Amino acid sequence: MSKKQDNKKQDEVETTGHSWDGIEEFNNPLPKWWVWCLYATIVWAILYTIAYPAWPMIKGATPGLLGYSTRAEVAEDIAAVDAANAELIAKLAAVDLTTITDDAELHGFAVNGGGAIFRANCSQCHGSGAAGTTGFPNLLDDDWLWGGTIEDIVYTVTHGVRNEQSLDSRYSEMTAFDEILTDEEITGVVNHVLAISGQDHDPAAAELGATVFYDNCAACHGDAGEGMDALGAPTLTDAIWLYGGDEATITETVRYARFGVMPAWSAEYRVGSGLDQAEINAVAAYVHQLGGGE
Ligand code: HEC
Ligand code: HEC
Repeated sequence: MSKKQDNKKQDEVETTGHSWDGIEEFNNPLPKWWVWCLYATIVWAILYTIAYPAWPMIKGATPGLLGYSTRAEVAEDIAAVDAANAELIAKLAAVDLTTITDDAELHGFAVNGGGAIFRANCSQCHGSGAAGTTGFPNLLDDDWLWGGTIEDIVYTVTHGVRNEQSLDSRYSEMTAFDEILTDEEITGVVNHVLAISGQDHDPAAAELGATVFYDNCAACHGDAGEGMDALGAPTLTDAIWLYGGDEATITETVRYARFGVMPAWSAEYRVGSGLDQAEINAVAAYVHQLGGGE
């Protein structure tokens, strides 16, 4: 800035009189509207901390005169949604599930709610898309251990498989054959299973294995290995395997058995963390419509 301009500026603008190394401080007051806004926000902030929860104390914050709480608000919202759905929930708990698809509204409600229940409680074992993994059955296909009607599914979910919570639990009873059959018989029966599932096998061993199968396995898996829902015994003739269909895995299954366990879900057996009847019906409706329902 030239000297001339500098002087001109000083004539126009009031300064505070402070000067550092020739730099002077203008006395420009803040605009009135701005100052009032600032005061208003300060007043508002003080009133807010009195009315609403604000200051952190040792145990929680000061509650505020209005007694507002986000938790209470969420609880109210949930109660309001539950009240709005109460009629559908009551209907769902009592419905004859075989006819649920006739009521489109109820079925839609069940499948949506069931999907959420599935993702929260079942996906850790059966996979988020219900495709299962080794030892945890795929619920999308029409290959069922215990049956795929909606009532079968309700029963499996309510009581589970091989657990100690429900006395009515389904019970898979495949024995470990390690000490019952000789090595030759085990090799034979494994080759028989390879044969009936259409895989490469040793025909001579499989021939011996057919008799072993008939004597030891057919009671549960059926004469032709078609499986039996009532016993949870899987079909051995298809390409769908719960544990695996290669020679080594089948040998392992036959020698040591698998003892698959599925928890019982009824609130009757899992106090606090179980599902009520409407929730069980919902998740069964969800599983049933995934593709494999019978
Ligand atoms: C801790 C793991 C686990 C959880 C959690 C679980 N399951 Fe299972 N489920 C299993 C196992 C293992 C089996 C197979 C049991 C057997 O070998 O017979 C099974 C079997 C089933 C079957 C029978 C399948 C068939 O082929 O007959 C259904 C239906 C089923 N589960 C549904 C559910 C639903 C619905 C939930 C959630 C409410 C759930 N499961 C949660 C482990 C689990
Ligand atoms: C008492 C009934 C019973 C008998 C007897 C029995 N099984 Fe099983 N088998 C089952 C059940 C139930 C399962 C499912 C096991 C589980 O999930 O724990 C199974 C599973 C299997 C599997 C696994 C299938 C898969 O998808 O991975 C094979 C293989 C098998 N059995 C072969 C045999 C052979 C071979 C014999 C005779 C030596 C035999 N089983 C005898 C009930 C039986």
